[in-house]
Amino acid sequence: MSSPFLVVEHVSKRFGPTQALSDVSVTMMAGEVHALMGENGAGKSTLGKAIAGLHAPDTGRIVVGGRELAKGSVHDAYDAGVRIVHQELAQCPNLTVAENLCLHALPTRGGLLDRRAMNERAARLLKDLAPEIRVDAPLGTLAPGRRQIVQIASALDDRGGADGAGRAKIIVFDEPTSSLSVSEADRLIKIIRGLAAQGILCIYVSHRMGEIFAACDRVTVLRDGKFVATSVIKDINESVLVSQMIGRTIDPASRVQRPALNAGAAPMLQVRGLASPKRLSGVSLSVRPGEILGVGGLVGSGRSELLDAVFGLDPRATGEVLVGGEAIPPRSPRAAIRAGVGYVPEDRRLQGLFFQLGCDENIVMPFMGLLARVGFRGFGGERSLVSERLSRFRVKTASPAAPPGSLSGGNQQKLLIARWMDKRTRVLLLDEPTRGIDVGTKSEIYRLVREAADAGLAVLLVSSEMPELLALSDRIVVMCEGELTGELTGEAMTQENILRLATLKHSASA
Ligand SMILES: Nc1ncnc2c1ncn2[C@@H]1O[C@H](COP(=O)(O)OP(=O)(O)OP(=O)(O)O)[C@@H](O)[C@H]1O
Ligand SMILES: [Mg+2]
Repeated sequence: MSSPFLVVEHVSKRFGPTQALSDVSVTMMAGEVHALMGENGAGKSTLGKAIAGLHAPDTGRIVVGGRELAKGSVHDAYDAGVRIVHQELAQCPNLTVAENLCLHALPTRGGLLDRRAMNERAARLLKDLAPEIRVDAPLGTLAPGRRQIVQIASALDDRGGADGAGRAKIIVFDEPTSSLSVSEADRLIKIIRGLAAQGILCIYVSHRMGEIFAACDRVTVLRDGKFVATSVIKDINESVLVSQMIGRTIDPASRVQRPALNAGAAPMLQVRGLASPKRLSGVSLSVRPGEILGVGGLVGSGRSELLDAVFGLDPRATGEVLVGGEAIPPRSPRAAIRAGVGYVPEDRRLQGLFFQLGCDENIVMPFMGLLARVGFRGFGGERSLVSERLSRFRVKTASPAAPPGSLSGGNQQKLLIARWMDKRTRVLLLDEPTRGIDVGTKSEIYRLVREAADAGLAVLLVSSEMPELLALSDRIVVMCEGELTGELTGEAMTQENILRLATLKHSASA
């Protein structure tokens, strides 16, 4: 093998009390796809950011192409050809796609923004990745998967550097597929393989085993900030990888026998004729206490729109939502929360967490009004509730008051779920609840969701991961183009049947 292109030597990084990386050494080759794996909080993003110059290591050095990078210098790393596609979507939702892509150097003509040149440039950058994305659309109107692709296009941008100067040589992909559909993820993996074939070192962070084995040449595992092993993908299997990551083997998505459902019980959640222009048409369903109702469908089929509307977030929604037999005032998240509805949305950054507050406040936030009314705010009751919740969900945080921005991605997601695991919650809406969650924590979350249901919650679950949907759901409804196309129970709950119902309308109109 040729000499390594990237050398990480004895790198350590501490954040206050958290040793995020300790004495990590690893080497990577030009032209390989090198996976970085490990549990939530293992240090993957921190290492990626250190390589990209976003974190200055406390000790050690990083060498790219034989040259040591200046510590914590984004510019130096950039000049050396290092790019990073962040785990969290870090863009400006109010600006257009083109503006986001050209922010670093907006083209001007006669001192004014040259919108046409900008749009052309953006279209050129997106040509191979996703030509269908409209460059003049505000970024915030795009689905998360699309926003992710825009970010990748931006990383590939050589910014017009001559003779390959400024061209990407190392790209860190930090969970780039976590918000992509299966077909988008497949397309991205092909793109990444193509980049590697051109000699670019692609560092690939993902919790999805299938992708690691499909896309990567070698894999390095981190655990608690420490280097565990680097292996050639061909020489390793999934269970060895899992045990390297967590020190035990598990089977995350198996069906578990739950107590028999009380079939006669009155529904806890009833949705009647829920509709919204261009999003939903006439959706009716009900969920009994203790039941987990899965919602299947392709990306864009209206599943997230359904949850939004149930939670009162869709200002144009019509129809009825009843909780415990009582209609809740429409189009009001506040009323939904008061009625006991909890929501873990797909996009934790835009919709879920309050980044200017602490983890503790994020947990009690929806109930703040209730606590304040009885004079609890800031007293022992709240503090013990917060610490109980953080420890039960093993949310890794330096202190309960630390802002969510200081948590690793998976821990942010756990925080969001922990918030609603409250006795005041009667209906739980979950949209892709295990996105970005490591294998060990995933099975933990499955257990907690089942426990919540066993305690009498009605759960409405959206998941694009088939094994997850099949393992958790007691019953599955499928959506296509904003409508329910069918319901599956018992033996009929299979991947084939879900896909058939999910594409029903497409094939009927074909
Ligand atoms: N800016 C920061 N301030 C304080 N602590 C931080 C900061 N960034 C990371 N940490 C801590 O460092 C540890 C490693 O975090 P990192 O984000 O690297 O994990 P990760 O392996 O990427 O996890 P995930 O799979 O959840 O994304 C975590 O305990 C995290 O809370
Ligand atoms: Mg991370």
